[in-house]
Amino acid sequence: MKIFIDSADIGEIREAAEMGVIDGVTTNPSLVAKTGRKFEEVLQDICDVVDGPISAEVIATDAEGIVAEGKKLAAMHPNIVVKVPLIADGIKAVRALSQEGIKTNVTLCFSAPQGLLAAKAGATYISPFLGRVDDIGGDGLELVAQLVTIYGNYDFDTEVLAASIRHPVHLVRCAEMGADVATIPHKVILQLLKHPLTDIGLERFLEDAKKIPG
Ligand code: G3P
Repeated sequence: MKIFIDSADIGEIREAAEMGVIDGVTTNPSLVAKTGRKFEEVLQDICDVVDGPISAEVIATDAEGIVAEGKKLAAMHPNIVVKVPLIADGIKAVRALSQEGIKTNVTLCFSAPQGLLAAKAGATYISPFLGRVDDIGGDGLELVAQLVTIYGNYDFDTEVLAASIRHPVHLVRCAEMGADVATIPHKVILQLLKHPLTDIGLERFLEDAKKIPG
């Protein structure tokens, strides 16, 4: 399973990259806005730190504009993946971009039929927002399971990139059902590591180590 970090904060990204567990990065306009920095500068910094797919989202909402913006973003660095919203014009743009060999991450996916259309259009990744489905009383993990099954049934090349992951159980369940990628916030990466018995065990080992003669 590939693990991406869902962040535009270069400090967080660098720290996760140093652990050696990060295969790529996803960003969105909200994450970039939080940094208070220019989009291009943030992207360039991320490309310098992580050698893997880096999703950068377009702002245009018409097919022509999305394609133009997507081409500009893709030209910035070979690792850039153009993140496109799951709307009719987005799907049109994904088809055009994929025909030019530009990788896409179709974002804001909240249903299986949306995901099916994204795959038909040639998306490289589909991003089901499972936490946000849960937020409105739905079952985000069920959506991930549906997409994994549907893509598997027809051998679509589109990879399921589970997004809006809020806690470690989300990640574990996605791994169990065979999601290709999970993008997780820095906070959740730290939560994955944490276990009270590890901390207690280490503390005891270190105390006992002091009693070893020599
Ligand atoms: O990658 C999508 C993600 O950034 C959305 O997460 O927590 O804002 O629903 P969240």
